[in-house]
Amino acid sequence: MGTTNNQLRHIALIMDGNGRWAQKKGLPRNAGHQKGAEVVLEIAKAAKEMGVQYLTIYAFSTENWKRSSEEVEGLMNLLRTYLGRNFKELAENDVRIRFIGERQRLDDDIQAQMTRLEQETKNNKSATLLVALSYGARQEIVQAARLLAEKVKSGDILSKDIDEQTFSDMLYTADVPEPDLLIRTSGEQRLSNFLLWQLAYTEFYFTKTLWPDFTKEELKDIINQFQQRERRYGKV
Ligand code: FPP
Repeated sequence: MGTTNNQLRHIALIMDGNGRWAQKKGLPRNAGHQKGAEVVLEIAKAAKEMGVQYLTIYAFSTENWKRSSEEVEGLMNLLRTYLGRNFKELAENDVRIRFIGERQRLDDDIQAQMTRLEQETKNNKSATLLVALSYGARQEIVQAARLLAEKVKSGDILSKDIDEQTFSDMLYTADVPEPDLLIRTSGEQRLSNFLLWQLAYTEFYFTKTLWPDFTKEELKDIINQFQQRERRYGKV
């Protein structure tokens, strides 16, 4: 048992279990997303207070487009409310807000709000919230390969000069340090196409808590456990 104090710059979060939370209470699934969105705000504030510089949340995956139109519409409307109102509080608290994912698939008014928030918060320095929206890691990686192929074709770079750095520079997270800790709620233990490249050396933490029941006390507890872990990065 050492007293390792691991660097914790970046937490990635898979917020799972909204549907089951609602079902348990006899409520529609979207009520779970509604409560989940409130928790997002609280956790983002708490993470900032704990000195975490980057928080990346999986708000909507490319696969989530396949859910019922009622549920997709509910999530989009929730997003409208949050982009327009609730994220303002974070912005006023010196948090920079950025979005990763295929934004062109979202409605025009939502895209416009995303751009506006990014612009308004681009000089905020206390912390950065990355919201993965219409995000899929394989799509991100394929898109990076395509961009590099175009650069080779136009003569900007030589194929022999492509390395891990040039590749990761083509990802949405180009200038963001890799996550130190991934948390997934609701007891599922899989990545679901989230940040596949970026999570190569990340510590994983799974909790049975459903996302709407997640609290900053539990976050604190997980961070404490993370601080005790030994990270070796393949070394002995
Ligand atoms: C997983 O629960 C959660 C989602 C698919 C959406 C996550 C969205 C939010 C927490 C709210 C919106 C966020 C913002 C930033 C406004 P699930 O529906 O897969 O739950 P289940 O596995 O119990 O069915």
